Amino acid sequence: MPEADVSKAEKNYYTDQPQKNEAFFLKGSNNYDWGFKNRLGRIFNCESGRTVMLAFDHGYFQGPTTGLERPDITILPLAPFADALMLTRGILRSLIPPSLAKATVLRASGGPSILKELSNEHIAMNMEDAVRVNACAVATQVFVGGENETQSVMNLTNLVDAGNRVGMPVLGVTAVGKDMVRDAKYIRLATRMCAELGAAVVKTYFVPEFETVTAACPVPIVIAGGKKLPELDALKMAYEAIRQGAAGVDMGRNIFQSEAPVAMIKAVRKVVHDNMKPEQAFELFLAHANLKKHKA
Ligand code: R5P
Repeated sequence: MPEADVSKAEKNYYTDQPQKNEAFFLKGSNNYDWGFKNRLGRIFNCESGRTVMLAFDHGYFQGPTTGLERPDITILPLAPFADALMLTRGILRSLIPPSLAKATVLRASGGPSILKELSNEHIAMNMEDAVRVNACAVATQVFVGGENETQSVMNLTNLVDAGNRVGMPVLGVTAVGKDMVRDAKYIRLATRMCAELGAAVVKTYFVPEFETVTAACPVPIVIAGGKKLPELDALKMAYEAIRQGAAGVDMGRNIFQSEAPVAMIKAVRKVVHDNMKPEQAFELFLAHANLKKHKA
């Protein structure tokens, strides 16, 4: 018990100052509960409103992906430069030190390996476990137009229901099948469906006319990096995505498969958080990478 308040000083209720009632900084996110917003606020930087999420969950269906054979060696040095880590709970528990104060986005779906039909996913993690490891969001893919479209949509909606019970945002990932056209019309459909079905954040691919994709999606969009590109091209893609309304990147191979991954993630940060032009960020990459002869 504290002592009774016997101070003689006059109390100050600041009656001339109305209490602030600020809107939450993220698009479409004002009506969530405190814990839900707090988790989003750990993924997204409240100054820039954006995030650099480092994706290295690829092993959940394709095993030791190039660059991820030893995440303890290749990923841990990158972690300090990421705002959030997107990973599986297996790698989280086995390799990520709990003292690393980073937001985590946990892959919550799984099932088929790369040898089978990928759209045949199910929810592969209990929400209680996401809470147990203090995750900031959980992720599942939606295969719009895919063989198991409805099943993957139900994975998302079930995860959203479970997440809403505990204040856990869901990242909806738009998976584009091998035979599907990756254009604005398709990406608008898939991203909008994810948002309508309750995803708090949507991850998708950058396509021409991307501003129509972000305009039609009521929640923040982050872009996946996709296959490894020359560094300058990856930085140009990130820049254009941000310019056209993306709230950040959820980038994997274009960072961890880079010739100089730490230099690359630093350059990506500059583009995402400081609107640095890609050519300038590429110069920074070269300087940090000490690869003066590197070709774009
Ligand atoms: C795909 O399996 C995962 O969701 C990845 O996190 C996603 O594809 C982003 O990684 P990348 O930038 O390598 O495409």
